Amino acid sequence: MDTYLLDWANLLLRWLHVVTAIAWIGASLHFVRLDNSLYKPTDPRLRERGVDGEAWAVHGGGFYHSNKYLVAPPGLPEKLHWSYWESYSTWLSGFALLVLLYFFNASSFLVDKTVFDWSPGAAVAGALVYLATGWIVYDAICRLFGRDAHGAVGGDAKVGLGVLIYVGVAAWVACQFFAGRAAFLLTGAMLATVMSANVAMVIIPGQRKVVAALRAGLPVDPALGARGKQRSLHNTYFTMPVVVTMLSNHYGMLTSGRHNWIVLILLMLAAALIRLFFVLRHKAPARWEIPAAAVALLAVIGVLIAPERAPAVPAAQAAAAPRFAEVQAVVERHCVVCHNAQLANKNVALHTPALIAGHGQTVYQQVVVTRQMPLNNATRISEAERELVKRWYEAGAPGP
Ligand code: HEC
Repeated sequence: MDTYLLDWANLLLRWLHVVTAIAWIGASLHFVRLDNSLYKPTDPRLRERGVDGEAWAVHGGGFYHSNKYLVAPPGLPEKLHWSYWESYSTWLSGFALLVLLYFFNASSFLVDKTVFDWSPGAAVAGALVYLATGWIVYDAICRLFGRDAHGAVGGDAKVGLGVLIYVGVAAWVACQFFAGRAAFLLTGAMLATVMSANVAMVIIPGQRKVVAALRAGLPVDPALGARGKQRSLHNTYFTMPVVVTMLSNHYGMLTSGRHNWIVLILLMLAAALIRLFFVLRHKAPARWEIPAAAVALLAVIGVLIAPERAPAVPAAQAAAAPRFAEVQAVVERHCVVCHNAQLANKNVALHTPALIAGHGQTVYQQVVVTRQMPLNNATRISEAERELVKRWYEAGAPGP
């Protein structure tokens, strides 16, 4: 019953998380595109009112006319739409999922003793420190390097390089301490925490000061807007790497190899390049070499993690489907410790022949296709045993 209720909590939180993330990333993509598609207003009345850019759009049966005021519009209406709950709710639901899936089950999901041998409690503390350190280091990089020679907000290239190096190092660190799936997820969660903290600690406080100054008729400090813009730009480049790391933990092929940190870094780099292509595309002709580079990176990953060929099976043996008893022996050796009458992870129990036969397809899926099971390969299944399961399933998964 416990696992059943946990599955419901898992489903509802994941659903919420995906919807809030769509709202947040959708808003981010929309505003970057809007900002990069603005053109100087042609109507002199608009320019007189301080409009610096305009854009027309047609959507859902209506026409929208956006005007962007540089720093300060002449007057602010009472009703102003703010964007921050999308971000906060995405972070909160994501953190809740992390706690429910990875922290409650830290011994199976966070810790892989072949990667690093520590207690579940220490691993949870390590994960929290990892998330917090991400923000502290990132923020320090922005503050230290994010100024030009005159002390104004700038230094984009230096900050960009600093953040790139830091994310690379952080990805490597995560893979030295956490089980592969958790390492990928935590690296994404660390970037997502930076994104939300950018909204909560820099962008929104800056906007609040600007709005307060405007309402009080005081001059507005342009550095507030510039700093918010810098962080908001970083956020847009983080979106794609975060999404791909969140999805990556469903693919054992990505997360379970010995060099998984290289895979993680290349994957995030490819994702950021794809975002870069679209950001530039809104302003100028397409730069196709950028997505080409992203595809090349993905191809490198594909080659890096391609599974080794399974040991050749003698022709006579290959022709005959493995007997059920052989498959049952593999399952008993490698699966039943975690899938039995007392402990049935994901409500999957495999301790009787009928149960194994009934779960033929999911067993094949988990052992051969996604290679997620045995979890962290805790029970050291061999390639020959995976191959056996494969041939059994392909022969129609004959029962006992
Ligand atoms: C060390 C414990 C452990 C071992 C060993 C193990 N599993 Fe699992 N298994 C789990 C856990 C934990 C989950 C839940 C995974 C999740 O929520 O992503 C799971 C989930 C599953 C699922 C459901 C997957 C899904 O997403 O619906 C199947 C099927 C499965 N295991 C099959 C197997 C098979 C077959 C083996 C042996 C080859 C095996 N497991 C070995 C712990 C284990």
